[in-house]
Amino acid sequence: MLIRGGDSAINLPSTLTEEEKWYFDLHGYLILRQVITPDEVLQMLKIANNWLEHPDQAPESIKVMVEEYRGVINPLPYGHRIFERTSLNQKALRIVMGLMWNRPRLFNCALVQQKRKPIPKGEEEKLHRDTSGFDFPDGFRNPHNDYQAGNGQIYSNYVNTAITLVDVPKDNGFTCIPGTHKSQIDFPDTIGIDNEWAPAETFELTAGDCLVFSSRLMHGARFWKMGYPRMVIFNRYQFSFYFNENYNLPIEKYKHLISADQYELESVQRGEKAFAKHILKKLDKGEELC
Ligand SMILES: [Fe+2]
Repeated sequence: MLIRGGDSAINLPSTLTEEEKWYFDLHGYLILRQVITPDEVLQMLKIANNWLEHPDQAPESIKVMVEEYRGVINPLPYGHRIFERTSLNQKALRIVMGLMWNRPRLFNCALVQQKRKPIPKGEEEKLHRDTSGFDFPDGFRNPHNDYQAGNGQIYSNYVNTAITLVDVPKDNGFTCIPGTHKSQIDFPDTIGIDNEWAPAETFELTAGDCLVFSSRLMHGARFWKMGYPRMVIFNRYQFSFYFNENYNLPIEKYKHLISADQYELESVQRGEKAFAKHILKKLDKGEELC
């Protein structure tokens, strides 16, 4: 039965299935297949590649950073509305909503391009947890990046989604040590990415797939080994009720470039947002999310 008393969220029905809750609690990530269509993938690639090749021709509302083996475009939706299909993606938001009591706020949406590069001998990939730029001392929990589970609900107040625009074979792209989102034990210096105790995993993905992960997971990226560049769009969400991770979004000056839903998604707000209500209504009616 649905009980909504005041702002108490604990009685909200979860948008996650019991299997998804169990899997995310155990591993700290979920893989969603084909959250955007192949046609959308192609359109996004065409637009992003054009900006990366001709940064001077990109709209002034976005920043395009190009290095020899790496490129970053940020914040994507201010460059072209099609990228709202990643941050406002209903299939991804259903999961994100279920992890933070239906109240996500987007504070970053960026595309990362990673090219194959010569690797100096002995250089290894590194793992990290995302922070707000402040490392909390041992024994303290970072309230901006917390993970809790109780009473059949999960509260993961900082969640990333990574939607790939290219196929990703194993041993490439996103890597993580499953389960580390829950650990309160410091990552031992003696344990590396290929350790035998808890080796980092990689995932075979098809263009259009989405990885949803807790930013408390020990994670990173494998060296890219393919002849084509890795192209991945990261959306970062925090619990809208409290958190303002940074003040970059929304950009008031360019508010006219994004939709009302996107603006609301980027804004700190206590109540349920319109897009969230829309998703909940669709779930109630058993309609398919897009
Ligand atoms: Fe990270």
